[in-house]
Amino acid sequence: MKPIKVGLLGLGTVGTGVVRIVEGHQEDLSSQVGSPIVIERIAVKSLDKQRTISIDSSKLTDNPLDVIRDPEIDVIIEVMGGITGTKEYILEALDRGKHIVTANKDLMALHGSEILAKAQEKQCDVFYEASVAGGIPIIRTLIEGFSSDRIMKIMGIVNGTTNFILTKMSQEGASYEAVLSEAQELGYAESDPTSDVEGLDAARKMAILGTLGFRTNVELEDVSVQGISNVTKEDIQYAKQLGYEMKLLGIADRQDDQLSISVQPTMVKNTHPIASVHGVFNAVYVYGEAVGETMFYGAGAGEMPTATSIVADLVAVVKNLKLGVNGLKAIVPYKLKKLKTEEEIAFKNFILLQVADKAGVLAQITQVFAEFDVSLASVVQTPNEQHTDAEIIIVTHDASQANMNKVLKHFEGLDVIHRVKSVYRVEG
Ligand SMILES: NC(=O)c1ccc[n+]([C@@H]2O[C@H](COP(=O)([O-])OP(=O)(O)OC[C@H]3O[C@@H](n4cnc5c(N)ncnc54)[C@H](OP(=O)(O)O)[C@@H]3O)[C@@H](O)[C@H]2O)c1
Repeated sequence: MKPIKVGLLGLGTVGTGVVRIVEGHQEDLSSQVGSPIVIERIAVKSLDKQRTISIDSSKLTDNPLDVIRDPEIDVIIEVMGGITGTKEYILEALDRGKHIVTANKDLMALHGSEILAKAQEKQCDVFYEASVAGGIPIIRTLIEGFSSDRIMKIMGIVNGTTNFILTKMSQEGASYEAVLSEAQELGYAESDPTSDVEGLDAARKMAILGTLGFRTNVELEDVSVQGISNVTKEDIQYAKQLGYEMKLLGIADRQDDQLSISVQPTMVKNTHPIASVHGVFNAVYVYGEAVGETMFYGAGAGEMPTATSIVADLVAVVKNLKLGVNGLKAIVPYKLKKLKTEEEIAFKNFILLQVADKAGVLAQITQVFAEFDVSLASVVQTPNEQHTDAEIIIVTHDASQANMNKVLKHFEGLDVIHRVKSVYRVEG
């Protein structure tokens, strides 16, 4: 049996896992696809670097073009990361008729439509299961498992770093800054954590999930993004008192054919299944019109979980090769994109206000909500021992974002409100 030859771009955390699985599971893999799978060439940045696995040095090159232009290679696995140069390598590989498996959410969120269009033109596969939620097979689930249903809502904890930080803040009453430095020491957060903590990484993944779930081309700029860097331990304590857990949630939902996609710290009712996803774990909750609630949970990153998704994609490519059907299964978004306006986006809100502690304040505040048609689910006032001020916690019913913005704008001109301390979306 002629072996299937694979070229690997990158031999870091994920690339090493791919080699381990391809070599360690060779018998299972070749029995599934009907040929041996061989990793033929590997591009790395530094040829001298110590590796944790033994690799035949003749396979290594520091020039990705040596891999892409090798006529023997059928499939390229891209696990080197990056956007600009990497995109060119992938496009050239597709031009040469090679199939692609990638874990690169940055690339797929920003240039996925161009890459998928090229793949279709060249009748090649491009699979990217590992780009969202590492080891959870969520992309295949959205494409195949939900092919008969209409997805109405996707909610994801798709960034392990921020879930680790929020979980620790909740369980230990620690501050954001303290937990972030612990996460950096443990290697869960990068030295520049911006992409994770400001929600950009999650937004890229939500753009990918939104595109697949709603069959329309969701771009990164369609996702409204707010990170967790302003979440205080006080916010989390108040959330817990009211029966909520704070989570950085990606939320993509639709009504009729209108969509909204966002990433923001959200107070999730503690009875909702996604509220119990702790630490670095990821989960994606999908609500289908016919099936109702489903949830997919697991490791969102790491060498072996991520590599297992990549090798599953590789198996799919090779099965397609055997059947001669590569490039036919690509999900090409076909629906016209209609994004909801601020008037049409509606959800519950939590608002924490610091106010003057005197008679009549509550009445003035509730009047503003009434004026802008925002109805309230609960109002709790607590005296603040350190100040002459009091704190008021308000949870609204579903309110349009436009009306909520008007309420908050109006608060700026109200003398009795000394500070709007926090505003969060509420789910569940
Ligand atoms: N780590 C995870 O858990 C995880 C989870 C999901 C998705 N991903 C995605 O998977 C990809 C890889 O992540 P990773 O954590 O494995 O990264 P990594 O550990 O930093 O490894 C990157 C690899 O690419 C090589 N490389 C970088 N630039 C190169 C260039 N210009 N030419 C040739 N080789 C180059 C590096 O070579 P050297 O070894 O010589 O430095 C290294 O082997 C990224 O897109 C990431 O977002 C990662």
